[in-house]
Amino acid sequence: MSLAESWERYAVGSKPRRAVNAKGDATWLNWTQYADHGPDEGVLGAVAGRRVLELGSGSGSNLAHLVTLGATGRGVDVAPAREAGAVERWGHLPGLEFRTAEATAFLRETGETFDVVLSIFGAVWFVDPDILLPLIRSRLAPGGMLAFSHLPPGGRGPRPAGAGPRYDRTPDEWRRILTGHGFSGVGVSVIDPPEGRTVGTMLVRASA
Ligand SMILES: C[S@@+](CC[C@H](N)C(=O)[O-])C[C@H]1O[C@@H](n2cnc3c(N)ncnc32)[C@H](O)[C@@H]1O
Repeated sequence: MSLAESWERYAVGSKPRRAVNAKGDATWLNWTQYADHGPDEGVLGAVAGRRVLELGSGSGSNLAHLVTLGATGRGVDVAPAREAGAVERWGHLPGLEFRTAEATAFLRETGETFDVVLSIFGAVWFVDPDILLPLIRSRLAPGGMLAFSHLPPGGRGPRPAGAGPRYDRTPDEWRRILTGHGFSGVGVSVIDPPEGRTVGTMLVRASA
């Protein structure tokens, strides 16, 4: 099974995001695996006027939220069903585009640059960082930011058959890997889980 086929199968089995969150908002950004939990898009600073690329954009809902705040958004996902679903739900938003592509292939081919590269349980978790990070850095505008989240090492969670390895890394490993690839201001934190749950969420930020 190819990478795209594996993730396509996963996409078809995924539940769509709710129409509104607990606060009654129709769009929102969630870094964690828990609904209505953790920090919001404030982690990125102001996004109005910034060009945001999401690698492994899934339903497109996190990116759509940033576009409602004035960003322009480009969502890239290897599974064709993701582009179709995201366009159906969010295609009406101006300044937001989705494309079916493998993340490294997209980064190699695109002539665009971005102010923010985002990946929420997305491609940054599933592609060898020694291959992906230099490509991301080459497409970030000066001062641009990479921000991503995933489970702490050892956590259960998405690992579709045929999708290859998952690059679980500890906070110290991410600091070393990102710094080694020329990123600066690396910040790694683990967001506490909600009450009654044991697994937190790793949140990583770095500047180009
Ligand atoms: C666990 S899902 C997370 C989706 C979304 N970011 C979210 O928070 O709901 C991982 C997503 O990354 C995509 N993906 C995995 N590896 C990828 C790659 N190498 N290039 C592009 N997309 C990839 C998958 O198709 C899937 O939609």
